[in-house]
Amino acid sequence: MENPMSAQLKPSEIVRQLSQHVIGQEDAKRTLAVAIYAHFRRMSANAAEDSVELTKSNILLIGPTGTGKTLLCETLARILDVPFVTADATSLAQTQFVGDEIEAILHRLLDRASDDIDRAQRGIVFVDEVDKLKAIGGEARATSGESVQHALLKIMEGAPVRLKDGRHIDTTNILFICGGAFVGLDHILTQTHTFGFISTTGGDDHKILERLNARVKPTDLLEFGLIPEFAGRLPIVTRLHDLTQDMLIRILTEPRNALIKQYQKLFKMEGVDLEFRPEALDAIADRAMERKTGARGLRSILEHALLDIMFELPSMRNLKKVVYDDNLFNADAQPLLIYEDAPLQQGGARE
Ligand SMILES: Nc1ncnc2c1ncn2[C@@H]1O[C@H](COP(=O)(O)OP(=O)(O)OP(=O)(O)O)[C@@H](O)[C@H]1O
Ligand SMILES: [Mg+2]
Repeated sequence: MENPMSAQLKPSEIVRQLSQHVIGQEDAKRTLAVAIYAHFRRMSANAAEDSVELTKSNILLIGPTGTGKTLLCETLARILDVPFVTADATSLAQTQFVGDEIEAILHRLLDRASDDIDRAQRGIVFVDEVDKLKAIGGEARATSGESVQHALLKIMEGAPVRLKDGRHIDTTNILFICGGAFVGLDHILTQTHTFGFISTTGGDDHKILERLNARVKPTDLLEFGLIPEFAGRLPIVTRLHDLTQDMLIRILTEPRNALIKQYQKLFKMEGVDLEFRPEALDAIADRAMERKTGARGLRSILEHALLDIMFELPSMRNLKKVVYDDNLFNADAQPLLIYEDAPLQQGGARE
């Protein structure tokens, strides 16, 4: 094992580090952490070449848009210090040459690994929007979703892929995480599931996986047009949940590079402090909830709200602090401006 550090990261440590960047989604974090831990264990066991060959378990992340699927995978790759690329299943389905496209994805992975094949072969590939790969017969204009699934399952399982320059990448130890919103899945679940007692016989890990998977069965995925062989290559299924107003506020303020922290840094470069009172944070989170795009709306909402002041900022003199409270979205809203040795003043630019 060339990367003993990653192998030794325990699931609890992986979750702890993920939580510095991703708010909530505890089920998904725990499932990912257990799966990753097992993945690295498996790699070192197989490298040791003893009798039992452990096979890989790729992962399916199901969750609404903007709730952290891509962020979780990106963060995971950073924590593990392995190369990471994302690919979009819908664009794979739009090309006529899915093989070339897959080769290109692996080539990007190799780029991220600074051209180190060994390192690339231990990377993570995130394939987004797999719920759009419907198996519909008779589609000729582009590759059908179904043939994309066939192409993907081959490399997910592990196969040598020939690159344009003649080198090969073996995907056996590359971890594939698939993502998708699977809109309407809950409806399917309520129709097909009888919730009841789940008996488990295996060890603790098995029990955890069992419990977390209990809610989504491969057959539920088939209703989305996933072919059985593809769904079968994704034995670990976990779900991300809609973000609550409270979680959106935490996303604004808590992660390492939270949006509010970023704007505060930007303002600080002009020598100005930026403060958001709780009422302002509530208002931003409310707007984001209305948009139904998860945390994705937060940035544009903030950007829009701060546009005027950011325009004025570089030419304002003696300004010490900008404070937003429930004035944030009012019609003629102006932040509270606090100047160097001057009384409080409400309003935009001076003079
Ligand atoms: N749980 C979360 N914690 C912190 N930030 C989050 C969280 N969820 C989303 N974000 C932020 O919102 C933005 C969008 O998140 P992300 O790209 O992970 O969404 P997604 O689930 O992949 O959505 P899509 O299905 O549309 O691809 C990112 O900038 C991310 O920082
Ligand atoms: Mg995404």
